[in-house]
Order: sequence, then C-alpha cells, then structure tokens
Amino acid sequence: MSPRVYVETQGCQMNDHDADRLRDLLEADGYLSTTRPEEADLLVLNTCAVREKAAEKVFSLLGVWRAFKEAHPGTLIAVGGCVASQEGEDLLARAPFVDVVFGPQTLARLPELLAERRRAGRPAVDVSFPGLEKFALAPPPPSGPSAYVTVMEGCSRYCSFCIVPYTRGAAASRTLSAVLTEVRRLVAAGVREVTLLGQNVDAWRDAGEGFDFADLLYALAEVPGLGRVRFTTSHPADLTDGVIRAFAELPVLAPHLHLPVQSGSDRILGLMKRGYTAAEYRARVEALRRARPGIALGTDFIVGYPGETEEDFAESLALVETVGFDHAFSFAYSPRPGTPAAGADPVPEAVARARLARLQERLEAAARRAREALVGREETVLLERPARRGRGEVAGRTGGHHWVNLAAPPGALGGFARVRITAALTNTLRGRYLAPVAESPAAIALPT
Ligand code: SAM
Ligand code: F3S
Repeated sequence: MSPRVYVETQGCQMNDHDADRLRDLLEADGYLSTTRPEEADLLVLNTCAVREKAAEKVFSLLGVWRAFKEAHPGTLIAVGGCVASQEGEDLLARAPFVDVVFGPQTLARLPELLAERRRAGRPAVDVSFPGLEKFALAPPPPSGPSAYVTVMEGCSRYCSFCIVPYTRGAAASRTLSAVLTEVRRLVAAGVREVTLLGQNVDAWRDAGEGFDFADLLYALAEVPGLGRVRFTTSHPADLTDGVIRAFAELPVLAPHLHLPVQSGSDRILGLMKRGYTAAEYRARVEALRRARPGIALGTDFIVGYPGETEEDFAESLALVETVGFDHAFSFAYSPRPGTPAAGADPVPEAVARARLARLQERLEAAARRAREALVGREETVLLERPARRGRGEVAGRTGGHHWVNLAAPPGALGGFARVRITAALTNTLRGRYLAPVAESPAAIALPT
C-alpha cells in the first residue's frame, strides 16, 4: 500500500500554492494524499511567520503531531515555510522529533531531504536560498477554472515591520517565457482565470529581455482562451504608470486591485519605510479609477505600529472614508524577530486591539456599501465551484472579486456567465444566471 501524506498550510496565497506544489511533488514520489493527519506516514506543515505568535501556533500543532508519531512509529514530520526558514536548526532544539526542516525556496528538495533523513538516521535541514529552483518542477495541476501562477519569489523592499525578505529571500523573478508557458498549459487544461502571485508583483522583471511587469500583462493579454488576469500583491510605490495604463487598455485584466496601504499617516508610513505618502497613495487610486472606472480596491492596514498616536490612527480612519475600499484585511502590529521595528516601544496591546475594532467596523461598513452598490447590476462571473451550502448552486467571483452564489444550468460550471446581482448578504452576493459569455477577453467589455 502507498504511504500517505498529509499537508497542512498556513498564511498567504503563495503558501497555499506552495502546498499544492508539495502535494503534487510527494504524489509523484509515491505518496497518496490524505485529509486525515492521524493516519499519515508523512506529516508536512507549511508555516507562516508574518504575524502574531506564528511560532507558538506551529509548536502547539507539532505537539499534536508528536502524539500521532508516538502512536505510529516510523511516521515522519517535515516543517517548511517561513517559520522553518526563520528558525532553521533551532527548530530541532524545541521539537527534536521533527525529521526535516525546509524553506520556501528548498521545497523541491523535500524528497531528497526525506531520503537523507532515512539514510543518515538524523534530521535533515536545508533552509538555503537557491532562488527559482522549485519552478523547474511541473506546476501542480489546476483544481478548477481559476489558478495561481507564482511569477516571483521573495521581496527586497524591507518594510520595517515585515519578516518576508528574511524568510523568503531577495526578490527573484521567473522569466516572461516561463510564465507564458505555464499559463498556456493551464489554459489548455481548462483554466480561464489566472492570479499572478508575488510578495511584490510590481517588482517583477525579466532583466535578460528588459521586460517589466506591465510588459508581462500585455503579453498575457495575447494568450488565446485566457479570460481574466488578476495579480497580487501590488506595492503602491512600485505600481507604474504602465500597469495603470494596462487597466485602461486590457479587457483581460479584472477590474480589481489589492493595494496594501498599511496606514493613513505619513509619519507612520515613513517609519514603516513604505516609500509613499497618503496623498501619493490617493493619487495612485485616482489614476486607477480614471483608467478603469468602477475598479474594486482591496487593501491591508496595520494598526498599533510602534509610535502610532491617536492622530495617526485617525488618518487611517479618514483614508477608509476617502478611498472606500471593497475588500480589506487589517491586523494589529505584531513584532517580528529580527525586523527593524521589533525593538521599538510598542503601543499598549489594549489600545491596539481597540483601534483594530474601530477600523474593522469602518472597513466592514465600506465593504457592505460596495456590495450593496452591486445589487441590480449585471456582472461577468467566473463560475468556479459548487456552492458550499449545496442546494445544487454554484459559486463564482465577479471581476471585482466579490463572491456570488447562484443557480446555474448544467454545464455552466467552469465558464464565464452574465449574472444579475439580486441581493447583498453578509459576506457574499446572490445572483441570477442570465447567459454564458464567450470565453474571449474581448467579450468582457471595458466600461466606457
Ligand atoms: N507584499 C505585501 C505588501 O506590499 O504589503 C504584503 C505582504 S505581507 C505577507 C501581508 C500583510 O500582512 C501586509 O500587507 C501587512 O498588512 C501584514 N503584516 C506584515 N507584517 C506584519 C506585522 N509584523 N504585524 C502585523 N501585520 C503584518
Ligand atoms: Fe513585506 Fe513590504 Fe515586501 S510588506 S513582502 S517587505 S513589500
């Protein structure tokens, strides 16, 4: 009988995609995926170190897995991702029962590291930064009409609160031709929408050929059968006029952008080393809205950054009102070991928590207004999967990244459809199926 592998992942979409890559790699190595950790012969944890007590969560889950291992001697435990990258060998001091430690850039070496562990009889650790090595693997097969394509690894911006440059390494981009080849293969396998992934996608470059991120978007617009392109995450200081022009000129680009602002206060943005002011952020948003009227905007905020005063915080609240975000993630600042901000005087936890609750209330109200404004409108929706609550319905996303549940005719799943939005619910929309959409970007008209 084939050995079984259980993969658990935490954190961002890049980690989700890395987890798919890991499952695929281990299945090719003879494992069978299971959803039951207690029966696995190999347990893999793909960790996230971006926020709050990440390492604590990892060690408490590893404690549970240790019991599985004690019940089934011979079970192996591998820990990857950003906590593994940060801790390296030190992870073994706290969890000596772990067999393999690997990083975001060495995940393709997992089968070798497992073999080394078996051969040498001691844990194998490799959290080095070999760059783009993992992309030599065949990409994981798509699980529906929407797929992720990682276009770059790492980040070189070093925002003062962020652990990513230390755990994922410096920015390194895949070539234009590697990305195009992967996208064409996905389209041939039935994919209609791709989301390009990178910690800072605007920094993508094909240095050899002299292409920047806007060039990549224009090249993707030429791929026959590709109906929609999204990308995340954008950095406001790196979002070029070329990318904004692409929103005006390329119907294939979804009318949606996630553009993390982090704070509305220039003083805090300076301390964070973000490289833009609140006015410059607003100016980018205005340019985007001129290029693509109605574009849906998402963002990230951090509250309680060291030194944040009530006045600074009020500027974040004001930004929510003036910009009007459709989607947002907001977090209380969490010191990340080894980052420049970690040594600074913290804002008291209770103050940060109270500010977060106030900000989230405003963000939720803004998101509700954005959903309600869609009621009665006709939207192009990619019908991605059966709806979670059954009833034979399907779920899909609008161009603006709003989830819609609706009843659709047989065979409609996997394609684009015109949908009338009939109601705005707490987190989703309801819609009525109108008609299928020809799968060509030209059919998804730009607003005039
Ligand atoms: N590359 C993206 C950008 O340009 O901001 C985001 C990367 S980060 C993995 C995702 C989000 O986590 C950030 O936008 C930020 O809001 C949040 N984040 C990162 N470090 C944090 C920290 N130390 N404390 C709280 N939130 C944090
Ligand atoms: Fe982190 Fe800033 Fe890069 S938030 S991922 S260092 S753009």
